Amino acid sequence: MTAAERARLLGQRGCVVWLTGLSGSGKSTLASALEAALVAAGRAAYVLDGDNLRHGLNADLGFSPAERAENVRRAGEVAALFADAGLIAITSFISPYRADRAAARAAVGTARFLEVFVDAPLEVCERRDPKQLYRRARAGEIEEFTGVSAPYEPPLEPALTLDTARLDAAECVARLLGLLDGGGFLTATAPPAD
Ligand code: ADX
Repeated sequence: MTAAERARLLGQRGCVVWLTGLSGSGKSTLASALEAALVAAGRAAYVLDGDNLRHGLNADLGFSPAERAENVRRAGEVAALFADAGLIAITSFISPYRADRAAARAAVGTARFLEVFVDAPLEVCERRDPKQLYRRARAGEIEEFTGVSAPYEPPLEPALTLDTARLDAAECVARLLGLLDGGGFLTATAPPAD
């Protein structure tokens, strides 16, 4: 089957919404909320989340730069398959290195890869600390923790930036839906090339 046939079947064009940002920035919350909003609107969407993939497909990987690269590489390949199947794949990985995100973009294809920077300041993420990981990282109990003892390289040209310290989840989801709609992913027909 061709991408156009799948798009006609589903009334949407497969793509990847790639959420990147610090732990605690709100990626997983937004991914779930976007998935729920899309499914409620009759769209086929599915979340791939670091916390979940690391229990199964990526259970063999830790947090060294090389292991994060492999984690993100596998996530990108899986997301590409989902997009091929016509789904809106929403990924939630810290994916701290620009080179790894660029490789995921290449695997998925630039035209259907929407990089979204979930941009809450480190202080805010650290104050939220939902899993108490920042506290443990500061105490030296977790090594190579992003934002504390490992780097985060912000996207240089994200399709969208969401400051979750200032915007509530509903507003963020509205902007994500706007991004998908504006890109023509919520209709079966591709927008004319410009
Ligand atoms: S990534 O850097 O390889 O993209 P991923 O998003 O899959 O990371 O996993 C991040 C999650 O793993 C965090 O939300 C946190 O729950 C957990 N985690 C455990 N150790 C670390 C660490 N050293 N750095 C960052 N996150 C960690």
